[in-house]
Amino acid sequence: MIKLAKNLSRLGDENAFAVLARAAELVAQGSDIINLGIGQPDFPTPPHIVEAAIKALKDGHHGYTPAAGISPLREAVAADIHRRLGVEVDPGHVVVMPGGKPTMFFAILMFAEKGAEIITPDPGFPIYRSVIDYSEARAVPLPIREENGFAFSADDLLELITPATRLIILNSPANPTGGVTPGDEIDKLVKGLEQWPDVAILSDEIYGQMTYDGLEHKSLLTYESLRERVILLDGWSKTYAMTGWRMGYGVWPARLVDHIRRLAVNCHSCVNAPAQYAGIAALEGPQDCVREMVSAFDERRAFVAAQLNKVEGIRCEVPKGAFYALPNITATGWDERSLASSLMEEGGVATIAGTDFGGHGAGFIRLSCANSLENIAAAIERIENFLGEHEPKLTH
Ligand SMILES: Cc1ncc(COP(=O)(O)O)c(C=O)c1O
Repeated sequence: MIKLAKNLSRLGDENAFAVLARAAELVAQGSDIINLGIGQPDFPTPPHIVEAAIKALKDGHHGYTPAAGISPLREAVAADIHRRLGVEVDPGHVVVMPGGKPTMFFAILMFAEKGAEIITPDPGFPIYRSVIDYSEARAVPLPIREENGFAFSADDLLELITPATRLIILNSPANPTGGVTPGDEIDKLVKGLEQWPDVAILSDEIYGQMTYDGLEHKSLLTYESLRERVILLDGWSKTYAMTGWRMGYGVWPARLVDHIRRLAVNCHSCVNAPAQYAGIAALEGPQDCVREMVSAFDERRAFVAAQLNKVEGIRCEVPKGAFYALPNITATGWDERSLASSLMEEGGVATIAGTDFGGHGAGFIRLSCANSLENIAAAIERIENFLGEHEPKLTH
């Protein structure tokens, strides 16, 4: 009998992919499902980006590249960060990855070991918790509260830090809540972190260009006092509708760059070469494609919240960023797992249970706005009808 390593049983999953597969299966069997489950833009990658990849292939870019990415791409990332955030970044500190996820995987493994604590948002992107659990470290959930508009609280976070804390994971604008933490709260956190100079921060800013109602995204990279210990995670998946290209990057403190480069060499050697050329075209080309997508998400997230708030038993914070809404469904009498699964199997709408993002997601379901306004309107009508026609079910 083969014997697997124990930690494999602690590796979690991202249920959004299972929901996607189940929705596709039901559709193949003839069901009509509106998919508000998966977090990927419903737009195609802009044509000039696709053309750049085709050109790269025709130009013969078929081989390995440096593990950290080709120089013009790392330079384009540094220039983009300067343009958007006003921060000077050494292109040598930019490490390109196959998507946003590997930066979090490697950053967590870099700090995780027995006895180490890692603070992670709850509800939060499930992979943070999964990788921490896979490692020997202990996950310390940072509650993200509805009453706080789903912003994280600097005080809540600072209280969780102990001498065992190695890494703090932050995500604003956030998945699954749509919360954006205001600049003054981040200022307060950064001030408090001065007391903990040995703690590193992984700031997942993959939705950084998606904020609404005039709210500004404040990047952790803009704080000079943190530059030696902040890892910025960003990428092309959401901003340029490039989820399938697998293109992301991290900006690393000087002393970590060689470690992450070695991890990359050991894992994947380098990122797909033509995709890297597409990445340059995305950053250096016209940005109106980004503005158009963000404005579509803006309209939809306002619509989703307004419509959901009309449904009896549902209360929905207006998302301030990203493209998700996390309505509170406790007053419907359903729990989030039963509701998400019954909506999929009987109600014709794919959503995700809040507890797929952590224990503090109990009583919530996540809806992705990556679908047309018409489909979103129809989905919410289906949810309302479903609730009106079915007795609440509780599985826990
Ligand atoms: C908060 C957050 N970080 C990272 C990612 C991963 O992005 P990628 O598909 O580029 O790996 C996602 C994707 O859903 C996300 O929501």
